[in-house]
Amino acid sequence: MLKILVCVSGGGTNLQAVIDGIAKGTIENAQIVRVISNNRNSYALTRAKTAGIDALCISPKEYSDREQFHESFLTAVEEAAPDLIVLAGFLVVLPQKLIEVYRNRIINIHPSLIPSFCGTGFYGLKVHEKALERGVRVTGATVHFVDEGTDTGPIILQKAVAVEADDTPESLQQRVMEEAEWQILPQAIQLIAGGRVKVNDGKVRID
Ligand code: GRF
Repeated sequence: MLKILVCVSGGGTNLQAVIDGIAKGTIENAQIVRVISNNRNSYALTRAKTAGIDALCISPKEYSDREQFHESFLTAVEEAAPDLIVLAGFLVVLPQKLIEVYRNRIINIHPSLIPSFCGTGFYGLKVHEKALERGVRVTGATVHFVDEGTDTGPIILQKAVAVEADDTPESLQQRVMEEAEWQILPQAIQLIAGGRVKVNDGKVRID
């Protein structure tokens, strides 16, 4: 059984897709053991509690410095002892130590086709604003492993989504979530739970 910790900041629709995937059996041999939000008002916390999942808020704002926040965060991760950490719209930079200890065991969902519209400053609606500004015809989402960079880790799955002529950042964000993010995040977890994802030389191979 793959034990999953999900980190969230916002609405938690990606978390919901994982909860539903496990409930429906499209994700097998996996269980969410804990949800951590950096935001006390995150609706994701309500979703977790409704699903009977242990959920807590660890906010940097509630600590006097980053070090203390990191310490608390690491303790909460250690307690949960997950096999996989899923960043589902998590807007906080992870402690370096966690990335080292959990190498190729932390995944993130990003709402564009990496390497387009990613890196520092590309989060939330901004990603879709930039895609529309550039006039791309196709965008999408990417699930990747997390390394020391921002959105630079090995790519696991990507799904393309067509941009429509009358798209706004909001409409594009919604379609990318529905057509891509909520599909490929559960799929990636299912592949990992099935032991089918290997990383070699910074690249993913799916068996
Ligand atoms: C999604 O667009 C995700 O790709 C991005 O943040 C958003 C989170 O949405 N990283 P939600 O909290 O899962 O609803």
